Amino acid sequence: MTPDEQKRAAARAAAALVDETTYVIGLGTGSTAFHFVEALAARFAELGDGGRACVATSRATAEQARGLGLDLIDIDDAGVIDLTVDGADEIGPELSLIKGGGGALLREKLVWEASRRCVVIADASKRVTMLGRYPLPIEVIPFGHTTTMRRIVNGLADCGVAATPRLRVREGAPFVSDGGNFIYDAPCGAILDPAGVEAALKSITGVVDHGLFLGLAERALVGTDNGVVTLTR
Ligand code: A5P
Repeated sequence: MTPDEQKRAAARAAAALVDETTYVIGLGTGSTAFHFVEALAARFAELGDGGRACVATSRATAEQARGLGLDLIDIDDAGVIDLTVDGADEIGPELSLIKGGGGALLREKLVWEASRRCVVIADASKRVTMLGRYPLPIEVIPFGHTTTMRRIVNGLADCGVAATPRLRVREGAPFVSDGGNFIYDAPCGAILDPAGVEAALKSITGVVDHGLFLGLAERALVGTDNGVVTLTR
């Protein structure tokens, strides 16, 4: 199976988790989540009209969902989200994750934290024994972002991570997130203490959020050549 076929298989397995009691569904962002949105539209058609609605984690996903006829609601009108399904850039021990390669980490985390259950879907390449090979996205306020980046370097160093974060650039200009912020990508190498890094980054004024998702995923559905494997914490 190609990685894309593995992603699609994982997405379909996740859509099968949606049943008559699942009313509000959080939609992730990225190429794997894209497959989930498609699979979800098919699943809704199977289940029939049940007054279901979705909360999107990015403009791109919202546009896709709308195109498929899914009802979208604002996170503030959703109350509790029953199930959120999203991709990841790395899946490490205890379902610790790095997310944000697509730049939607802030809205993703807001939706994940408002959800009863979060399921991560991925192809087999995303599994790692230790987080950090994938550069860690860190979303920062544009005002004073270079100063904030210097503080990030020090904060990471205090956690044993020597990394020089790079400002994410698209078409010659800083990438701007859906929230209007910049993103630095920190090539950490190996993150031995994810909880320490999480706390250090959160304590820096100017950092809005980061791509570490710890203790949030209930399970992972990973597409492999031998079918979809379920991982739990
Ligand atoms: C989007 O900001 C990310 O968190 C994605 O979920 C993550 O980058 C995985 O993307 P793919 O499914 O495209 O690999």
